[in-house]
Amino acid sequence: MDIHEFLAHLNRGEAVEGGSEMYRMMHKVSQEALKLTAELNGDYHTPEEINVDFNYSSCIVEYGPGTGVFTERILKKRKKNTMVFLFETNKNFYNLIKEKYRDEPNFYIINNSAEYIGKYLKKYGICKADYIVSGLPFASLPNNISSNILTETEKYLNKHGKFITFQYTLLKKNFIEKYFNEIHIKRELRNVPPAYVLCCTN
Ligand SMILES: C[S@@+](CC[C@H](N)C(=O)[O-])C[C@H]1O[C@@H](n2cnc3c(N)ncnc32)[C@H](O)[C@@H]1O
Repeated sequence: MDIHEFLAHLNRGEAVEGGSEMYRMMHKVSQEALKLTAELNGDYHTPEEINVDFNYSSCIVEYGPGTGVFTERILKKRKKNTMVFLFETNKNFYNLIKEKYRDEPNFYIINNSAEYIGKYLKKYGICKADYIVSGLPFASLPNNISSNILTETEKYLNKHGKFITFQYTLLKKNFIEKYFNEIHIKRELRNVPPAYVLCCTN
């Protein structure tokens, strides 16, 4: 099957059955799209733009790293004794990142929801994180999960720490805002698709 047959099928509004050749094609195309956007976005997601002070960070947490666009930059810029924790629920992304950074010191990737940040920080003797960077799509996560994540984020963020979250819409701005004292929003047009960067402080 080629891409034209696949698109013609979708344009006719026909269903894609699980396990079918059409389904495999859909999976392949979406994986390619993910890779492509990650490459395009990789060029602008600089640590300066995500506003992390790497000199004064002893612990950085990332939620939902996916293919690791932010992870790459965090690991390049952090001091080697800064602890980095990642929470990724998708087993494939988890395996990919675990393998890629298997030799990194003070680096922990956890195949569990960001809701459990507290449990894992405690496990490694950390009280609070200096920065929490997130690619989680709050607009499409169930409300109770978002609420658990934001409650824990507020709880485990240092007094002068920052929660930096990338969103494709501002649908959940008011919801996110309830958990923090201050929120600054920047539009990043170079992202594909354009994104908002919300920087939240306690
Ligand atoms: C939109 S992708 C962001 C990927 C990457 N950060 C980027 O910007 O290119 C969202 C990621 O969050 C992960 N995810 C979704 N719910 C999660 C949760 N509750 N805890 C941790 N990761 C989660 C997904 O598996 C996915 O990899």
